Amino acid sequence: MTDTRQMTLEQLEEAIYSCTLCPLHQGRTKAVPGEGPLSADVMFIGEGPGFHEDRQGRPFVGAAGKFLEELLASIGLTREQVYIANVVKCRPPGNRDPLPNELSACEPYLERQIQLIKPKVIVTLGRFSMGRYFPGASISKIHGQPKRVGNYLVIPMFHPAAALHQPKWRPLVEADFKKLPHYIAEAGHFGDDAPPPQAQQLSLF
Ligand code: URA
Repeated sequence: MTDTRQMTLEQLEEAIYSCTLCPLHQGRTKAVPGEGPLSADVMFIGEGPGFHEDRQGRPFVGAAGKFLEELLASIGLTREQVYIANVVKCRPPGNRDPLPNELSACEPYLERQIQLIKPKVIVTLGRFSMGRYFPGASISKIHGQPKRVGNYLVIPMFHPAAALHQPKWRPLVEADFKKLPHYIAEAGHFGDDAPPPQAQQLSLF
């Protein structure tokens, strides 16, 4: 693989489509790089492609995606206005959890996507993207609570699929989403020369 750190978004997508860095490439129909405008203020990071995503090469196009679109609509946003990515770009067999070697093989792609998009706010959906920023945390304790990590305001949220399976979480997800416009407005953009990523608890909100 060429160095992802120099790649444009288009080059990154091409590299992901032809990636063979971990065994997940063997079972994929299509890799799913992610999608959305380079200028997006908000980036959602899910887990990995499921059946429909693998077929279509697009993130969040199944039932969880439909719910995500409803949640976005509830705050006046469409999926075309946000960037949607996953921690792994190829579908794990049977939708199993991604393995550590798969997560680490895919990490440079996500890292470069974040660098290029420079979102104001990163919303983690589910355990694996939450783990990048809140290692060891429990989603039921920290959901909806933003933390400044370097240049970004990171907000952990329940995965929409989890909320579909666990109806008791649905109102919590809906309430967390309702707070998002406020955080986007407050987050502001921080330049490339901001201090290195360092997790600190926000007292701002
Ligand atoms: N679940 C995810 O985490 N990502 C997708 O793209 C689809 C479902």
